[in-house]
Amino acid sequence: MHRKFNKFSREKKSSRKKEKIKAKKITIAPREETKRELKISAIDEGTVIDHIPTDATFKVVEILDLENHKGIVSIATNLQSKRLGKKGIVKVGGKSLTQDEVNKIAIVAPDATVNIIKNYGVREKIKVKTPDVIENVVKCSNPVCITNHEQIATKFYVVKKDPLKIKCHYCERSMGKEDIKII
Ligand code: CTP
Ligand code: ZN
Repeated sequence: MHRKFNKFSREKKSSRKKEKIKAKKITIAPREETKRELKISAIDEGTVIDHIPTDATFKVVEILDLENHKGIVSIATNLQSKRLGKKGIVKVGGKSLTQDEVNKIAIVAPDATVNIIKNYGVREKIKVKTPDVIENVVKCSNPVCITNHEQIATKFYVVKKDPLKIKCHYCERSMGKEDIKII
């Protein structure tokens, strides 16, 4: 009985030893490698919206209704950019944008680039362009504007492109970038 107990305790000891060895085998990647892995992945097919002013990143997500998109969506903000200081990127797998969506993006991200990705390559690069007239995209900030009371599509004239300044066709309210709410 005594012998048996000893044997058992020896076995336990040796299995614990094995576990320890296993744990030691886990190697931690060098710092550089870890950093590389954390970068936002390339996509095989879809659209990459790059050079978004960092604070407009989630507006782009809203414009494209990505909360309901079934494919891969990767969002990054506060990335270093030589041109913008800080920028955002939105990568959408399995989606191509309509002209209407590109025009909407231009309103919140006038410097954005829309990259069309096919088979991991950049097939086309579209530089967005702020339109002269913005129809049915932005809500008028004037509470008494007719567009906030009747079923009328909003319409704004672009007075200045950068920073964006627009004027309501109906009530002549001037709005800046900070007042802009997408419909
Ligand atoms: N990209 C991606 N998946 C791919 C190919 C490209 O997510 N299969 C992304 C890149 O990470 C980059 C953008 O698409 O954010 C544009 O790619 P590319 O033209 O190769 O990069 P840049 O030359 O840096 O683009 P730009 O000149 O517009 O800054
Ligand atoms: Zn108005």
